[in-house]
Amino acid sequence: MANVASPRVLNVADLRRLAQRRLPRVVFDYIDGGADAEVTLGENCRVYDGITFRPQHAVATPTCDLSTTVLGTPVQVPFLLAPIGSSRMFWPRGEEVAAREAGKAGTIYTLSTLSGCRLEDVKNATSGPAWYQLYLVGGLDAARAAIDRARAAGFSALAITIDTPVSGLRERDFRNGTKQLLERGPGMLRYLPQVLSRPRWLADFLGDGGLMSFPNIVVPGQGAHPYADITAALEQTTVTWKDFEWIRKAWGGPVLAKGVLTGEDGRRAVDAGAAGVIVSNHGARQLDCVSPTLRALPEVVDAVNGRAEVLLDGGIRRGSDVAKALCLGAKAVLVGRAYAYGLGAAGGPGVARAIEILRTDLIRTMKLLGCPSVRSLDRSYVDLPYAWQYERRTASAL
Ligand SMILES: Cc1cc2nc3c(=O)[nH]c(=O)nc-3n(C[C@H](O)[C@H](O)[C@H](O)COP(=O)(O)O)c2cc1C
Repeated sequence: MANVASPRVLNVADLRRLAQRRLPRVVFDYIDGGADAEVTLGENCRVYDGITFRPQHAVATPTCDLSTTVLGTPVQVPFLLAPIGSSRMFWPRGEEVAAREAGKAGTIYTLSTLSGCRLEDVKNATSGPAWYQLYLVGGLDAARAAIDRARAAGFSALAITIDTPVSGLRERDFRNGTKQLLERGPGMLRYLPQVLSRPRWLADFLGDGGLMSFPNIVVPGQGAHPYADITAALEQTTVTWKDFEWIRKAWGGPVLAKGVLTGEDGRRAVDAGAAGVIVSNHGARQLDCVSPTLRALPEVVDAVNGRAEVLLDGGIRRGSDVAKALCLGAKAVLVGRAYAYGLGAAGGPGVARAIEILRTDLIRTMKLLGCPSVRSLDRSYVDLPYAWQYERRTASAL
């Protein structure tokens, strides 16, 4: 098991390096990569560098309260674990392992529809609250079956992903032969060396049963959705606002729209009954050259205007990134790759270390800012880049 203690692992980039060492390239790149030229992938992280802090010095902050609520649910830290499909490929029973660590940290785990573990087992694995992320793979009947199971299992909210009318072009997956490896035909042979070069991962993967199906996508009368078909299946899963309302009614509890990037979509989501809006570009894996999410956040916060909670994901690698997103109006954030690297590097201890890094970073940042509670973070603690201020002035003059 990889050692993830300090000083070997001080930040998320260290976990990323360890994940790269343990995982075959095809799996590591599936986590790490983005769409097309990966412009937004870089921007999602870089945009945080342009926000500068305005600390209040000579303020005693002996305690630092990281707790908040998300859709009325108390959480101990203002970051949740985002839905990451196929986590079971990174570590045996990966979704259960990650959910368990989220529960221990007092936060919410969001389970992807594209999970290799049964949703009931994932909910049982965590002592904390959990959300279910819904894709319409398999059609409305399969969605209805998953919704009913998720409700019965105790998931407390549904995150409906609205940014996948087709799958983004993730060039690394093509170059690494993802399709050929999943098809397991003769075409896979030239891509096999990358898998064989990671014997420890391979032993874990085979010990966990090898390539899994998707046990939470069950078309009534048929079995679980097979793994290999998923890219094609995603292309038939566009969620329209009409579908969104259908899902909300079928669920009967709070729903969030995941994948909002403009004020207009923020308003549409609220009109369609969303209790929460997740400003997200799917970790830069769908349409390249969209705004980095932090840049889109103020517009969405203004448009939603308190009628729903606004969350954000994308590019969060440090606790100071969490603080900046909260200063710009996010109620909380979701982290994706930060914990996925930890899971791929070392399983549960890797996820726990990712959470710990973000938690201790955030406490340090808050103390240095002179701010006692994450609920008090606001615009007074940051300066926006000059270009943002200029754009806002120009927009309001038009
Ligand atoms: C490997 C991987 C798989 C993902 N799978 C899903 C998914 O199944 N459903 C979904 O809504 N979002 C999915 N996402 C997007 C994340 O939920 C989240 O929006 C994104 O990872 C946030 O950006 P970050 O990785 O920079 O934190 C995935 C992201 C990654 C990296």
